[in-house]
Amino acid sequence: MSTSEAGVLSAAEFRERVAARELRIGIVGLGYAGLPLALAFAEEGFPVVGIDLNAERVAAVNEGRSYLVDVPEERYVDAQGRLSATQDFGVVGELDALTICVPTPLSKTRSPDLTYVIAASQAVAEHLTNGQVVMLQSTTYPGTTQELVLPILEEGGRTVGLDVFLGYAPERVDPGNAHFDVHNTPKLIGGVTDECRARAEAIYATIVEQVVPVSSPMVAELAKLHENTFRAVNIALANELALMCDHLGVSAWEVIDAAATKPFAFLPHYPGPGLGGDCIPVVPHFLSWRLREYGYSARMIDAAHEINANMPVHVVHKIADALNAQGRAIKGSRILVLGAAYKPDVHDTRESPSLQIMQDLLARGADLRYCDPWVPTLSLGDSGIESVAWTTEEVDAADCLVMLTAHRQFIDQPHWDKASLVVDTRNVIPAAEHVWRI
Ligand SMILES: NC(=O)c1ccc[n+]([C@@H]2O[C@H](COP(=O)([O-])OP(=O)(O)OC[C@H]3O[C@@H](n4cnc5c(N)ncnc54)[C@H](O)[C@@H]3O)[C@@H](O)[C@H]2O)c1
Repeated sequence: MSTSEAGVLSAAEFRERVAARELRIGIVGLGYAGLPLALAFAEEGFPVVGIDLNAERVAAVNEGRSYLVDVPEERYVDAQGRLSATQDFGVVGELDALTICVPTPLSKTRSPDLTYVIAASQAVAEHLTNGQVVMLQSTTYPGTTQELVLPILEEGGRTVGLDVFLGYAPERVDPGNAHFDVHNTPKLIGGVTDECRARAEAIYATIVEQVVPVSSPMVAELAKLHENTFRAVNIALANELALMCDHLGVSAWEVIDAAATKPFAFLPHYPGPGLGGDCIPVVPHFLSWRLREYGYSARMIDAAHEINANMPVHVVHKIADALNAQGRAIKGSRILVLGAAYKPDVHDTRESPSLQIMQDLLARGADLRYCDPWVPTLSLGDSGIESVAWTTEEVDAADCLVMLTAHRQFIDQPHWDKASLVVDTRNVIPAAEHVWRI
């Protein structure tokens, strides 16, 4: 690499600036992925600016207010005023390194919507200066970094690898996980050139215990997709076992726990009401979508999707069967759903199967209530609905209790002793004649 380009630090100078914590870092998108990253760099001693279009989030960061479950307000104190936020991309020109963490949703037809990545990359490119390192961290289809972001950065006449540096470092955060965070989750890094990768490694190595360099951005993009596909496929396998066990009259959980006593070559996954969250239901489709271009059909991904996407329907049928066995119908029955969030102890309802199940129950005429200490209100279709309190009275008044998300509060206060009928999709309620499982 030439070091003579105006404004481009030599590799050694760059490292010195990182070591002195003088590198000015920008994080574009202050959500579940971006905010913890911004705080981690600020806590480490770097001056950090978060750039977000959302005025409320920008104000919250500047006032040290938390809006994410995984980010306690004490972290702003630890950052000692080194983190600020703005809506103005003009600040990009004052920074040395930027990470883009904006959303990458799927459209209704399950094709990737890259409009946020394109908009953020264009806004960065407008203020790009020589020597800057740009990392994409949003989850996306293989090829995005080099085929989509690189040309945008080079529009102004700069060359990636020479004037500016570009790479991909996938986000692997697991919200609500008390054991793994930014620091102890290994960071994959693929650079467009060796120098792109080396500079990104130097930056991330300051906050991550293990940086794992890979040979290209596409390897890093694919590794992220494969991790999440692995999980979606294994959950589908567990869900299919539950469907088969339903016919055979045994507990899928007992079968899985028995299989898991094998000390090698088995990794237990468990059934549930369907996939939720921003990653597992969504991410495998980035891969299958891209491969369609090559006439390749990702059969495993499609089969897993079909099984997982059908689980909410199966749960509603199970509720209908359970009520029917007591001479009742869904219509007119008071049904108390436990859990709107997609997994325990988070307030995230994105893609949560609970929403589909509740909507289906409402459409069938249920007198529906839900309880979720993490989700006080919900919009279901056109109407808003409020969580009821977790009390024995609510349980007592329900014709059917449906366990969808095993929040700690439910487990710690097991009011279900009072329930006359239970459908448990998580195997957390002790077996009894009135307890049905999926
Ligand atoms: N949430 C997770 O657990 C998780 C885990 C792994 C990977 N990811 C990936 O990380 C990426 C970000 O996800 P997230 O959960 O943090 O999303 P999020 O919705 O929580 O936050 C994204 C932020 O980006 C901002 N934004 C949107 N467009 C912008 C633009 N053009 N310029 C500046 N800011 C913009 C939004 O206002 C929002 O604050 C996605 O690709 C997601 O798939 C998320």
